[in-house]
Amino acid sequence: MNIIKFENVSHRYDASAALTELSLGIEDKKITVIVGRSGSGKSTLLQIINGLIHPTEGTVEVFDAPLNYDAINKIRLKIGYSVQGTGLFPHLSVYDNIALLGNITKQLKHVTETRLDMLMSLVNLEPRFKTKFPYQLSGGEQQRVGICRAMILNPPIFLLDEAFGALDNTTRNEIHAELLNMQKIEPRAIVLVTHDLDEAIKLADNIMILEKGIVQQYGSKEDVLNNPSNEFVKNFLKQRIS
Ligand SMILES: Nc1ncnc2c1ncn2[C@@H]1O[C@H](COP(=O)(O)OP(=O)(O)OP(=O)(O)O)[C@@H](O)[C@H]1O
Ligand SMILES: [Mg+2]
Repeated sequence: MNIIKFENVSHRYDASAALTELSLGIEDKKITVIVGRSGSGKSTLLQIINGLIHPTEGTVEVFDAPLNYDAINKIRLKIGYSVQGTGLFPHLSVYDNIALLGNITKQLKHVTETRLDMLMSLVNLEPRFKTKFPYQLSGGEQQRVGICRAMILNPPIFLLDEAFGALDNTTRNEIHAELLNMQKIEPRAIVLVTHDLDEAIKLADNIMILEKGIVQQYGSKEDVLNNPSNEFVKNFLKQRIS
């Protein structure tokens, strides 16, 4: 089942085309990784899903209905979003950062607290971190807090844009494992953007390769790796080191 559907979606910033005529679906409860070089349109595609960008052409369906840009804030509560640098509020404690959306939506306090404890344990953040502030955390710890914050309302969709790009290899590998474990426990549609092919191969059920705003290939990981559809994809896959 596709939880996100693009039909003839194109986006132009000023004169230049960032995405051209995308018609595709994104599967529910799977990890879809969008991979491509800098400027290929990855972030644009992701931000079209959560309505941060309204495409210049085409329709976007999320949860079986065309995105209603007048009610976009409500829809976004069901779409977790995590970016590199995390966007944590510096003046809020870890607890308050994670609980934020629970409080804004007036979710019962004990529901928020129970979920917060569960999420922190899933990403191996000890309870003592709750009272700390973002500046007192390492980059990896901050990224984990960002994941917990995005997951507090248990959204059916989780978008990650280069969220692990700034981390050292060991920390990145740990967070990869935590994300895969979370996906096993509570499967959702994860759409992850990266320019790192190895990260894509490690995490993906499905892979989409973008270049110059055009989808070069999109399918199961096995299909993309075993049957590259054109020369661009073949060359792109040669960067693989593992
Ligand atoms: N706000 C903007 N105004 C004008 N052009 C933009 C804007 N945002 C992106 N672009 C252009 O659109 C194209 C696609 O950008 P996008 O950010 O989607 O690429 P990306 O694949 O995420 O790249 P990166 O890997 O560097 O993050 C690029 O050519 C970029 O310069
Ligand atoms: Mg980007």
